[in-house]
Amino acid sequence: MTARPQQEFTDKVAIVTGAGSGIGRAAARAFADAGARVLGVGRRRHALKETAADHSAIGVHPADLRDPEAPQQIIDDAIDRWGRVDVLVSNAGVMRMMPLPQTTAEGIEDVFSLNVTAPSLLASAALPHLRRTGGTIVNVSSTFGHRPLPQAAHYAASKAAIEQLTRSWALELASDEIRINAVAPGPTESEALAAAGLPAADVEAVKRDEAARIPLGRRGEPEEVAAWILHLADPAAAWITGQVLTVDGGLDLT
Ligand SMILES: NC(=O)c1ccc[n+]([C@@H]2O[C@H](COP(=O)([O-])OP(=O)(O)OC[C@H]3O[C@@H](n4cnc5c(N)ncnc54)[C@H](OP(=O)(O)O)[C@@H]3O)[C@@H](O)[C@H]2O)c1
Repeated sequence: MTARPQQEFTDKVAIVTGAGSGIGRAAARAFADAGARVLGVGRRRHALKETAADHSAIGVHPADLRDPEAPQQIIDDAIDRWGRVDVLVSNAGVMRMMPLPQTTAEGIEDVFSLNVTAPSLLASAALPHLRRTGGTIVNVSSTFGHRPLPQAAHYAASKAAIEQLTRSWALELASDEIRINAVAPGPTESEALAAAGLPAADVEAVKRDEAARIPLGRRGEPEEVAAWILHLADPAAAWITGQVLTVDGGLDLT
């Protein structure tokens, strides 16, 4: 007999951004397996549909999170479907190589609009509903949110920003019993390197180099990061707030 996954999130509603691939896809499926109804957000409808295949509890909401109207529309969609929001996972993000000589206002805006502004507007739009449910937010940072990343300084800075937002909101909302935490993954299998514009040959070289630098000797799997997103959102983690959990095979220690 196959063991049934535990159903810690039965009757709860989770919103997961960037649910069409990588860490977001794994998280959306894991919340659904744990009993939640899940709204998966991303730009590509077909990728979201693939995430939702075989998971009838996952609904899809195609949207570009750089559109300032998208966050309120996403929350409204979840409320129209299910009447509540318990968990917000702000996972969608972009990595962009941008050495200082090539730094442009457009490049900075591209990174910050998705990695910082969108999670902020989503958290704000979700707040009345999180107050009602005693809900929780899990932001997705990076190992490079708290260590330097030459050639991609604005990516690192955007992740440092989400870590400071996590800590500040945790204090701001503690009296509402809303918990805010973050997971900071290290190099993890996903579409991120290709989405950053690296050619396929360079992607393979970067992956080899990263695996060699990680103490546990390999890149992570999206499911290994998603598991910690779920743990932090779990009601059993009721006394944890304002924390950034690094999940990176020990890279942060080097
Ligand atoms: N993989 C790693 O090595 C690693 C390491 C540290 C941190 N992270 C962080 O982990 C998070 C997830 O990344 P991942 O590794 O799973 O990469 P990924 O596979 O590239 O996933 C990112 C997701 O975000 C969505 N997205 C991108 N731009 C969007 C927009 N404007 N509006 C809505 N959705 C958008 C993408 O779907 P669409 O293109 O369809 O919109 C995609 O499904 C990111 O915040 C990333 O910075 C990843």
